[in-house]
Amino acid sequence: MGSSKASCTVSLFQLFIVVCLVFQCFARVHADLSATLIVNASDASGKPIPETLFGIFFEEINHAGAGGIWAELVSNRGFEAGGPNTPSNIDPWSIIGSGSLINVETDRSSCFDRNKVALRLEVLCDSKGDNICPADGVGVYNPGFWGMNIEQGKKYKVVFYVRSTESLNLTVSLTGSNGVGNLASFVITGSALDFSNWTKVETLLVAKETNHNSRLQLTTTTKGVIWLDQVSAMPLDTYKGHGFRSDLVGMLADLKPKFIRFPGGCFVEGEWLRNAFRWQATVGPWEERPGHFGDVWMYWTDDGLGYFEFLQLAEDLDALPIWVFNNGVSHNDQVDTSAVLPFVQEALDGIEFARGDPTSKWGSLRADMGHPEPFDLRYVAVGNEDCGKKNYRGNYLEFFKAIRNAYPDIKIISNCDGSSRSLDHPADMYDYHVYTNANDMFSRANAFDRTSRDGPKAFVSEYAVTGKDAGTGSLLAALAEAGFLIGLEKNSDAVEMVSYAPLFVNANDRRWNPDSIVFNSFQLYGTPSYWVQQFFSESSGATLLGSSLQATSSNSIVASAITFQSSVDKKNYIRIKVVNFGTNAVNLKISIAGLEPNSLQLSGSQTVLTSANVMDENSFSQPKKVVPNQSLLKNVGKDMNVTVPPRSFTSFDLLKESSNLKMTGHESSSRSSI
Ligand SMILES: *[C@@H]1O[C@H](CO)[C@@H](O)[C@H](O)[C@H]1NC(C)=O
Ligand SMILES: *[C@@H]1O[C@H](CO)[C@@H](O)[C@H](O)[C@H]1NC(C)=O
Ligand SMILES: *[C@@H]1O[C@H](CO)[C@@H](O)[C@H](O)[C@H]1NC(C)=O
Ligand SMILES: *[C@@H]1O[C@H](CO)[C@@H](O)[C@H](O)[C@H]1NC(C)=O
Ligand SMILES: *[C@@H]1O[C@H](CO)[C@@H](O)[C@H](O)[C@H]1NC(C)=O
Repeated sequence: MGSSKASCTVSLFQLFIVVCLVFQCFARVHADLSATLIVNASDASGKPIPETLFGIFFEEINHAGAGGIWAELVSNRGFEAGGPNTPSNIDPWSIIGSGSLINVETDRSSCFDRNKVALRLEVLCDSKGDNICPADGVGVYNPGFWGMNIEQGKKYKVVFYVRSTESLNLTVSLTGSNGVGNLASFVITGSALDFSNWTKVETLLVAKETNHNSRLQLTTTTKGVIWLDQVSAMPLDTYKGHGFRSDLVGMLADLKPKFIRFPGGCFVEGEWLRNAFRWQATVGPWEERPGHFGDVWMYWTDDGLGYFEFLQLAEDLDALPIWVFNNGVSHNDQVDTSAVLPFVQEALDGIEFARGDPTSKWGSLRADMGHPEPFDLRYVAVGNEDCGKKNYRGNYLEFFKAIRNAYPDIKIISNCDGSSRSLDHPADMYDYHVYTNANDMFSRANAFDRTSRDGPKAFVSEYAVTGKDAGTGSLLAALAEAGFLIGLEKNSDAVEMVSYAPLFVNANDRRWNPDSIVFNSFQLYGTPSYWVQQFFSESSGATLLGSSLQATSSNSIVASAITFQSSVDKKNYIRIKVVNFGTNAVNLKISIAGLEPNSLQLSGSQTVLTSANVMDENSFSQPKKVVPNQSLLKNVGKDMNVTVPPRSFTSFDLLKESSNLKMTGHESSSRSSI
């Protein structure tokens, strides 16, 4: 019995398949899905989104700073990169001229106490006699960070310190990568007496041509011994004149970040404490900064981009600085809690530097550096990713007590994740970091649904899809992140801040993949993950509207709705964002409840981020392959049907009629004009 019944079932099922193939019911089942999004736009349903929700996290990684946003063109400008152990390592400086013409070495004769290494050039040839120098001279050159970007008509300030035993005749020039071609140059001459002591030389070069792969040369045809130190070349044209590459910072400004967390990341910790970022070594005149070797990301930085410059960048972006400091814990060694007080004092001094009175010890150094006004430092983070370390909690509490006592208003961020259970120590916020695959990231749209609303708030200070799904910055990764961010926006009563990581990668030193913005000496583009962040640039401080999504057979879409006043035209909008993470188009019915009649203008806009292939990426040759595409949205109303493409992120911007128009009765004419 059983078996015959079974075979009967099978044959009916087979028949069903045949019928289905004929009538294509599978195709229909798998065709466009439908869903309904109900948005409650009544004032009473709205919840304020924190003013600070979306920001950025800058880490000195991938040459993001040195050879990145910091516009200094010379790499290893003080010849210190070898460190105390291999001071002869002057990389990437190179010698022009053979050993019979010039002898180059380092010594410790610098006039700067904190960075004693100087470069000694012993010139053996001359313009006359039996060892004639080549016509172009002998000396040294610096190729910058994979070539200096020199642009026609732009001005470059060159500064260096020099000392000489004989009369000096030194040519400073910007040339092509092989030393050929003169983009700009000047000659400094003087008697032996003039240069018997260290002398600062400063000049402005104007480029005659453009070359993205230039180098800076210092050459001579005069016999004698010359010492060089602290050689700098900076473009004059920088963001707000503060030394940052305008093109790269412009992309940050476009995100309208409300905060900037800096300077790391693991960069703050170091593999070893001796190589951690310590703020006091990065402030004061740039010539006097020792620089340091970042042993996590394995490169030297002259620390031209130091603590002061980070605070300045935050101010220039109108973003609140979030200073992450080392709390006596590195990847491989840690300070005992009983011995952590010097670190605590260093943090207190750092806060005083940022916002202390200009007459205070550290506030006066800030004033000397040109910023008597305090910086708006309201947040500090005690360490990075160190919760699991043996001394973290003990050390943390010492920092917490001291900072709370001295600066009661400063918000203190712990490394211990409090999203699923409450913290065992006091904090104002806690870090939440996530690097994962695309499906898991998308599912984390719900990560904070059940988080307690009472304790400290979450700071999602690092998130990104990584691994195979991400390629070097795929649409797939970006869509998963968009879903996650929509979840954070909806849970922004539990999440106070969020930032992607890492922000930048110099394509010549890709230590971490993927990243938000990719650049080299002169080119740049945003990955799809960068463009996703732009969809949220109006969310901070907006009002979250209640919304519910009814999807028939799909859990691959997520949506949110906000209302905000545009930072561009100051008009009021409703913005509905929808991620379709699935492979089918979705017919979405949007119903907006709680609005007065005729309170939306008939046309709005829709912005879609998608591409033919979900693994598509941008590149230097196709920087705009996967970017948001804005178009007109017609027939806007309280009920509307839209189609959301497969594998896409869409934002619908609906312009609210201004109450002014309604009151003066011009509403109907303004609507009929469309
Ligand atoms: C909109 O939200 C308000 C406040 O929560 C509620 O009173 C109202 O019933 C909601 N309207 C709809 C259509 O859900
Ligand atoms: C400096 O050197 C250049 C090139 O060798 C030479 O033409 C020039 O006359 C020298 N200037 C002085 C003041 O010696
Ligand atoms: C050399 O310069 C240093 C620093 O500017 C100064 O202290 C010193 O007196 C100078 N020496 C001579 C011989 O001029
Ligand atoms: C942008 O969207 C419009 C309207 O949907 C479409 O016609 C156009 O082809 C899209 N452009 C690109 C580059 O995808
Ligand atoms: C949206 O689509 C549904 C189902 O196809 C239809 O009943 C409704 O009238 C449409 N609404 C609008 C505003 O076009």
